[in-house]
Amino acid sequence: MTRPPQPVPGPELQVTVGDITDEDLDAIVNAANTSLLGGSGVDGAIHSAAGPELLEFCRGLGGCGTGQAKLTPAFALRSKWIIHTVGPIWQGGDQGEPELLESCYRQSLARADEVGALSIAFPAISTGVYGYPVDLAAAVAVEAVRSTRSDVQTVRFVCFDHATRAVYDSLVGHAG
Ligand code: AR6
Repeated sequence: MTRPPQPVPGPELQVTVGDITDEDLDAIVNAANTSLLGGSGVDGAIHSAAGPELLEFCRGLGGCGTGQAKLTPAFALRSKWIIHTVGPIWQGGDQGEPELLESCYRQSLARADEVGALSIAFPAISTGVYGYPVDLAAAVAVEAVRSTRSDVQTVRFVCFDHATRAVYDSLVGHAG
């Protein structure tokens, strides 16, 4: 008798509040810009905490397109890898922003698979300087992670404030 195909279990989804530079998962994701040469927000925090070697390494990467993702070592951080992705700048939502943001999550998981990273922490990409409404961005993030096949077992959404956490909690629920 042929068994029906079993659903592929997705990663465990976790939601926390904190500074993503404190995370010790295999990989943390940086909400970068196309230059990959640093900036404010989470990008600035990651460059400060990882140390100047990160900027030196990034100079050799030739930038990164919006919706794409590139890997670097994590240098002084506790994680092993930083996955730098470039979210879309919010322009009202009809300029391809949801698709580009979804691509950030999918591409980041693909980079994680390339180095065997089994756990990954994401900030709320595009929701700071780039102005993407948090509720809309979080919905894209959770759906993208749930629908992307990868070997990653743990995805942690690291929120910088409690209001953002509440949005993620409502989407992820307590079942994870
Ligand atoms: N840990 C976790 N989350 C953080 C941290 C942190 N240390 N710091 C900020 N956030 P943003 P974007 C949250 O502006 O909107 C940079 O200049 C923040 O509260 O960091 O994708 C880049 O170089 C918000 O929820 O990234 C680009 O030019 C989320 O991280 C541009 O900003 C994203 O906010 C990217 O803008």
